[in-house]
Amino acid sequence: MKTIVITGATSGIGLETARVFTDLGYLVIGIGHSEKNCEIARNDILTANHDAKITFYYADLMQRQETLRIAEEIKTYFEKNQSDELCALINNAGCVRSWYMTTEEGYEQQFALNHLAGFLLTHELLTLLKKWKGKILFTGSESHKGIKIRWDDVMFRRGYNPLTAYKQSKLCNILFAKGLNDRYNSYGVQAYVVDPGLVNTDIGNKKTGGIVNLVWTLRKRYGVSPAVPAKTYAFLCEQTIMPNELYYRDCAAASYSKEVTTENADSLFALSERLCEISYYKRKED
Ligand SMILES: NC(=O)c1ccc[n+]([C@@H]2O[C@H](COP(=O)([O-])OP(=O)(O)OC[C@H]3O[C@@H](n4cnc5c(N)ncnc54)[C@H](OP(=O)(O)O)[C@@H]3O)[C@@H](O)[C@H]2O)c1
Repeated sequence: MKTIVITGATSGIGLETARVFTDLGYLVIGIGHSEKNCEIARNDILTANHDAKITFYYADLMQRQETLRIAEEIKTYFEKNQSDELCALINNAGCVRSWYMTTEEGYEQQFALNHLAGFLLTHELLTLLKKWKGKILFTGSESHKGIKIRWDDVMFRRGYNPLTAYKQSKLCNILFAKGLNDRYNSYGVQAYVVDPGLVNTDIGNKKTGGIVNLVWTLRKRYGVSPAVPAKTYAFLCEQTIMPNELYYRDCAAASYSKEVTTENADSLFALSERLCEISYYKRKED
């Protein structure tokens, strides 16, 4: 059975994307933050489609150990269900913060969840993705344009600006996708970034306060429905001939920052490997 893993599948873009793929007949393995929200999301999807094939796992993807645990659970699932093929991993979970907040490892939270969690989870599921020539997709953002990676202080420990840290984490999504394509296209694995546009979700109202919360409450009203980016995810995953651009919006290739270079992608790859304590090329099967 065609199977898709979606992180952050309990609300907003991830939930709607999970719904679209279950309607298309895929088995969706959703990952959420809390057991309660996973249960609510699962019921939500099943209420609308009794035949939906949907299962949820929960983990705090900001924490390295939790990401490793969930990856093991997913790998065990595929070992037990050998005929299920991992068609795609959608790294969608994300957050916005108002203040400098860190994970247990001391990493800035937006960088940790929006970038490092996907970096680590992709690494752990890479063998399966290579086996099934799967796609690796990211929910990016147009906000990545106009900024550079702050290489000497990637976690913004000095002079924290939450919006700049968020934008940088979204630039990381594209750099990582490019890094994956440079390394794994020859294995039939293809990475893409979906730019969802402004979407009416609660992302800016979770664990935020002050101006960030207020601005998002006003701004999100102008956002489109999560169904819009979900359609682009379906478009990319349903193509028989793989589209060969990197960045997509509204089911079409779109332009992205000139900061997306091989040099920057390689630097981010090396930095992320160090921070996650992994090495993509030292894996046994490589
Ligand atoms: N909304 C927009 O306009 C917009 C624009 C550009 C890009 N994006 C990107 O779209 C993605 C999805 O955001 P959204 O707007 O759909 O917001 P959302 O509704 O808040 O969805 C975020 C998802 O991530 C999950 N999550 C949060 N913290 C987590 C953690 N520590 N561990 C595991 N899961 C966690 C959330 O779980 P809970 O349900 O438990 O909170 C939720 O399922 C993000 O990557 C965001 O950067 C959004």
